[in-house]
Amino acid sequence: KKKKKKKQQEDAAPVEENEEPQMSQEEKDKIADAAAEAATPFGINDAMVTPATRLDFGDYQCNAAMGLAKNVGMSPRDCATKIVDGLRPIIGDIMEEPEIAGPGFINLRFKKEYLEKSVQGMAKDPERLSVPVVGNKKKIVVDFSSPNIAKEMHVGHLRSTIIGDTLSNVLEFSGHDVVRLNHVGDWGTQFGMLVEHLRDEFPAALNKETSQNVDLGDLVTLYKAAKQRFDKDDDFKVRSREGVVKLQAGDAEALAAWESLCAASRVEYQKIYDALNIKGLEERGESFYNPFLNGVIDDLEKQELAVESDGATAVFLDGYTNRDGSPLPMLVRKSDGGFNYATTDLAAIRHRTEFDDGEKADRVLYVTDAGQSQHFEMVFAAAKKAGFLPETVSLEHVPFGLVQGEDGKKFATRSGDTVKLRDLLDEAVRIAGEDVRSRREDPEAELPDDVKEVVKTVGIGAVKYADLSMNRESNYKFSYERMLSLNGNTAPYMLYAYARICGIVRKATGQEEGQSVQWPEPADIVITDEAETQLIRNLVKLPDVLSEVENDLYPNRLCDYLFETSQMFNKFYEACSVNNAETEEIKASRLSLCTVTAGTIRLLMGLLGIKVVERL
Ligand code: ARG
Repeated sequence: KKKKKKKQQEDAAPVEENEEPQMSQEEKDKIADAAAEAATPFGINDAMVTPATRLDFGDYQCNAAMGLAKNVGMSPRDCATKIVDGLRPIIGDIMEEPEIAGPGFINLRFKKEYLEKSVQGMAKDPERLSVPVVGNKKKIVVDFSSPNIAKEMHVGHLRSTIIGDTLSNVLEFSGHDVVRLNHVGDWGTQFGMLVEHLRDEFPAALNKETSQNVDLGDLVTLYKAAKQRFDKDDDFKVRSREGVVKLQAGDAEALAAWESLCAASRVEYQKIYDALNIKGLEERGESFYNPFLNGVIDDLEKQELAVESDGATAVFLDGYTNRDGSPLPMLVRKSDGGFNYATTDLAAIRHRTEFDDGEKADRVLYVTDAGQSQHFEMVFAAAKKAGFLPETVSLEHVPFGLVQGEDGKKFATRSGDTVKLRDLLDEAVRIAGEDVRSRREDPEAELPDDVKEVVKTVGIGAVKYADLSMNRESNYKFSYERMLSLNGNTAPYMLYAYARICGIVRKATGQEEGQSVQWPEPADIVITDEAETQLIRNLVKLPDVLSEVENDLYPNRLCDYLFETSQMFNKFYEACSVNNAETEEIKASRLSLCTVTAGTIRLLMGLLGIKVVERL
């Protein structure tokens, strides 16, 4: 009998038996097995017990009965009853008597005692809050940020950087071995023109000894100047073409000039990474794969996958056509012998998954704008066809939508120019600072250093959170006002929610305002109010939320969950006094709920790349 379990269930390690935090993997498996068992007579292999889509449906749900009914000519409700009979002996200690709703949905609810024990387990484990480390550790390459040398790093790269960093954090927290690669565009035809322009304007850049220290000025201006000459001056055009060939052949002067361009760009984008606090991103640009490009073409040609097409070399794949229905080529070598974007990506796949001295990754994620979807589909298909990667490896494009202005048009300054990322981040911090200043006694006075730090956290955090809280595939309208608002699903809201809990705990335990919060010892949890139950039901969902992000790579799930959690906390705090709880025991229990809620916010904000502060 074949049973397929959900991927996330296989990946999670069973938790220690005596601790009893969330429903353990074993318990989840048992329930799923029991449901499958009960469903087997009807010819279904997988009854799929999954987290409930809405808390008012319960904590877990099983919707298998509806599918079953069609197969066996039995009513869905009767099927559901059968499944419940199978489930009952297994879930008795954890869940209430299952409820069959509507046509045959089975809703499962945790027992009160189980919730109490689970959240108590979380309080005892402030680092991980009972989130298990995966049993099946994978090597995962996350290819993100990836700006292009000597070109403007734009808002698309900002999105890639923020999303890629968060996904890497989540996967690492789950226990995977994550390699963050910056696939910078540091190779290709534009360098011919740039090198030749430097030869005329900045000759010191062509000398290996001096090239690293030449001040090239603003790179975008430099690029524009070179491009203008390229478009106007035929001699320069010819020289540029030869320049690429020289560079690719390893000519010392061309290489020195290229190095100086890379060095200058690196300084620019490092400023952005510093402002965003991006760590551990390893630069491995397109140039790195240059030595492998001929091998890619040879192997494609040997297998007759690459063929001549209008003087160039191309791969044709089933199902890809131009508008007019003619086959769409994926170019891998130009008529002048130069290589294409796709060729480098094919080489990169081999290096990351196949070659012994590469990463030997199990999973490779590519975080780029949705406009590159077809490129990745074709590259992945070609790589598979050519046998460039082990069959078990998963290559995944993680696309995102455009950044737009508030009017839904292209994101630009008032004068229509592209927005410099540095300016964008500075502006967010400036507005956050204005806001703080306006609420101080002397709005004109300069802010003290520690407050300035907080302002930076809020401003940068707002930019990150606004991006991550959107479904990444939608286009996203950039609005300082919205992202810095204290109301709604924003960074300032979450940061205040955290600081507020810190204040509540300080007050209830008599701690000084100026000191960092001492979190109380975990206490026995006693549920006395429905609002506590609802908060806890939300808190214990954490491992499921994280494993969903691990599987489908939507960071907005983290923000949605954070927002829900803080709303549940507010309801709890309205209904249940912490400071004046009925008994000491209840007070200690409620303080533990504060601790676990704060811990959840701190953990998730950390994964989003935003540091919480105890006072705002
Ligand atoms: N440099 C590219 C760009 O600016 C992104 C590269 C993404 N990664 C890759 N392996 N193709 O759009």
